[in-house]
Amino acid sequence: MTTINDNYLKLKAGYLFPEIARRVNAFAQANPDAKLIKLGIGDVTEPLPLACRQAMLKAVSEMGDRATFKGYGPEQGYLWLREKIAQADFQSRGCHIDASEIFVSDGAKCDTGNILDIFGSNNVIAVTDPVYPVYVDTNVMAGNTGANQDGKYAGLVYLPMTADNNFTPDIPQEKVDLIYLCFPNNPTGAVASFDYLKAWVDYARYHGSIILFDAAYEAFITEENIPHSIYEIDGARDCAIEFRSFSKNAGFTGTRCAFTVIPKTLKAKAADGSEVELWQLWNRRQCTKFNGVSYIVQRGAEAVYSEEGQEQIKGLIDFYLENAQIICERLTNAGLTVFGGTNAPYVWVKTPQGLSSWDFFDKLLQNAHVVGTPGSGFGAAGEGYFRISAFNSRENVLEAMKRITA
Ligand code: MLT
Repeated sequence: MTTINDNYLKLKAGYLFPEIARRVNAFAQANPDAKLIKLGIGDVTEPLPLACRQAMLKAVSEMGDRATFKGYGPEQGYLWLREKIAQADFQSRGCHIDASEIFVSDGAKCDTGNILDIFGSNNVIAVTDPVYPVYVDTNVMAGNTGANQDGKYAGLVYLPMTADNNFTPDIPQEKVDLIYLCFPNNPTGAVASFDYLKAWVDYARYHGSIILFDAAYEAFITEENIPHSIYEIDGARDCAIEFRSFSKNAGFTGTRCAFTVIPKTLKAKAADGSEVELWQLWNRRQCTKFNGVSYIVQRGAEAVYSEEGQEQIKGLIDFYLENAQIICERLTNAGLTVFGGTNAPYVWVKTPQGLSSWDFFDKLLQNAHVVGTPGSGFGAAGEGYFRISAFNSRENVLEAMKRITA
């Protein structure tokens, strides 16, 4: 009989968000009159910006005319989009990133998982705890871990993120090869300062490690003096890959568009000891396994960088951040301890009365008909916490807070 990839058997039964959806659906079936408010998965609710929709409509018309029709696009993304990204997201902040170093894709989730294709199987891999589960699960699938023991996979180095370290994990004493960092952080909403990221860049350069930097939430940074990109740190071109997304800033969760930056100066070692450009390997991988994001969607993403697009996405981000502020205020006034929500669309709440994360999840579901995400779903150190997403209508956020605080 054909065999399977046994690594899948090491995974926890379900990916976190489908598992929550399963429990919520069971509750909804048993309680058909309950008006559920979902503040669990970080999925946007507000419509796509007008500038993006207009650009996509125009692109649809172009596809209907032989003279302007487009077939396969470049696997790396159209140059006109990559140039806009390089200029607006990096060069404008003093980062030396060229358009050719940007790979447009259909999601940061996919890219953070797929990136493992280009790394060897003997790397020591560090993840934060709590962590966006994709980083861990994709390493399990790739065979980079042992079995799950008490919520942790053997072979991974877990870096605890706690209130004591402001949810910015201490830099490990030992050498690790690959490090996943996410700032603004999902799930805690914490941010990294220049000095903090500089310490990581210095560590990575000293050890020849690579930082996989997920900046999917950078547009939510409101405070001054917080880096939006790891390439704002000197030396990061030699030790970091950055992942970005149009999902949360421009509402593209259903439309799908993101990008990954791999500087051409970034190298890692082959089995024969030679140093190889990771850019080349990722380019080879994408050309083989990916056929690019649709022309229509890339035109929509390009419109994010127009004057109207920038204004409209600022409106969206401000709206969700106001939701986050309402969540923080109402829960704090109700006596709960909250973190995040200032530079991120997530509020990280300490569960009251020593309740476990899943007990608090059940309590809110049963009594308030509000869905959040149990902190323990993001890792063992998330136990005793609960994540509330600010992605919802104002009406739903206000109603959810009223129910929770009642
Ligand atoms: C989350 O809720 O953590 C996000 O929706 C995850 C994602 O963007 O994949």
